[in-house]
Amino acid sequence: MLTPGHHTTLPANPERYTLEGWTIHHYPSASSTNLLAANLPAWSAVRADIQTSGRGRFQRHWVSDKGGLWLSAVIPFNSDSTAGSLLSSAIGLAICDTLLETGVSRLRMRWPNDVLIDDRKLAGLLLDLFTPGLVVAGIGINVFNHPETSEPTLKNQTARLADVLPRLPQLSQLAADVLRHLRRVVQELASLGFQSILTRVNALWGAPRKVELDLDGLLRRGEFAGIDQYGSLLLRDESGAQTAYAAHQVRHLQEIR
Ligand code: BTN
Repeated sequence: MLTPGHHTTLPANPERYTLEGWTIHHYPSASSTNLLAANLPAWSAVRADIQTSGRGRFQRHWVSDKGGLWLSAVIPFNSDSTAGSLLSSAIGLAICDTLLETGVSRLRMRWPNDVLIDDRKLAGLLLDLFTPGLVVAGIGINVFNHPETSEPTLKNQTARLADVLPRLPQLSQLAADVLRHLRRVVQELASLGFQSILTRVNALWGAPRKVELDLDGLLRRGEFAGIDQYGSLLLRDESGAQTAYAAHQVRHLQEIR
């Protein structure tokens, strides 16, 4: 479990309002919305116009300049590692449902939950467990920000809604839409189980791709074949046989050409 520590000191004066069953705290600036959400109750959300220490997966810095959606949602969830990977796919589905409804096409997911347009990253998801039973889902979506200006190595790596939509939603509207889909998917998961959304999740990976898995140092190549009902990653070998790897076994997935 992570400890948010001194970072939870709240900056002054968030705008606070309720919407779609959520209580939303909106800050002009935050270190990381995930850290500000760490002590909040279920169905709270934190949004910031910029993040000064945005956090990505693998302890990476997440560029969070003005014009992107930086949002964290506190979700009630009793998780072990299997349930956590199912939740992460479910949240990926909620993000994709939002973006599809907004009119984005050519969208796909890359395991476990990167959201891409073609091969460029449009959105990312970072799950934190600060308090047992409460998952903080941190969602970053590039909208009309310029990530490669602050981080030149991101050139040609990122996508933004501004590049693919003729008319952009307001960030507050996009946040409300993400939260609406998130609540719906999480409630469906809780009441009907993962099987109910598995087909929809597996439809989001796009065309089959060759990948290399890093299984804690051991490398395995094959074709990514989606996930199974336990949230395990399926790797197909040349004979067509599939092997399932629990999400916690896979340190990294790299797409290869
Ligand atoms: C990734 O590496 O793909 C995950 C990126 C997650 C970024 C979001 S932005 C809102 C929330 N606050 C953070 O500090 N990170 C997440």
